[in-house]
Amino acid sequence: MRTDRLILRRWRHSDREPFARLNADPRVMEFFPQPLSAGESDALADRIEAHFEERGFGLYAAELGEDGSFIGYVGLAAPRFSAHFTPAVEIGWRLDAAYWGRGLATEGAREIVRHAFEDLGLTALVSFTAPANVRSVRVMEKLGMTHDPADDFDHPGLADGDPLRRHVLYRLVNS
Ligand SMILES: CC(C)(COP(=O)(O)OP(=O)(O)OC[C@H]1O[C@@H](n2cnc3c(N)ncnc32)[C@H](O)[C@@H]1OP(=O)(O)O)[C@@H](O)C(=O)NCCC(=O)NCCS
Repeated sequence: MRTDRLILRRWRHSDREPFARLNADPRVMEFFPQPLSAGESDALADRIEAHFEERGFGLYAAELGEDGSFIGYVGLAAPRFSAHFTPAVEIGWRLDAAYWGRGLATEGAREIVRHAFEDLGLTALVSFTAPANVRSVRVMEKLGMTHDPADDFDHPGLADGDPLRRHVLYRLVNS
């Protein structure tokens, strides 16, 4: 898929090195338990590939159209945990911090919403994060996603008492 500035595509082996670099950056991983080692980053890339094989869609590699740089991912993933809103398809994003603040996540995510509803026939998407992740919440808002505080939940992958455990849930319904 293409947008004005981005190409959203399946992953290549050459994406793994820049992906490991951004996953090792504490700024990128501020709202996750910790930055990832190179091995953990590769394992995540393997899980993303497996999701494409199983579901036919996934977290697409995001490449800058102007110079072909791999800058992160924008796409879709089915949460592997169970919660009050699952099964569901999540729209998500993670970009190298050097590219933040230019509207790229929102631009890519708008194309992913179109893909989800028009090409894949999905009827609804969710997105979730720790409420302090204001950049991510802002992308959700710009996509027109809505938030009902009654949907907020404790992430089952995080321990009781972990300050990141509480999550806000945003929804988008294809109308
Ligand atoms: C979340 C993320 C993908 C956003 O990427 P991005 O390309 O910078 O996003 P956009 O430029 O499209 O939008 C960011 C919005 O946040 C706003 N923002 C940035 N910093 C902010 C701050 N400190 N306080 C409030 N708003 C802020 C921007 O102004 C922009 O909103 P605007 O268009 O209304 O001005 C990027 O920050 C990232 O990769 N974060 C780390 C990974 C992550 O947390 N992913 C989400 C997990 S759920």
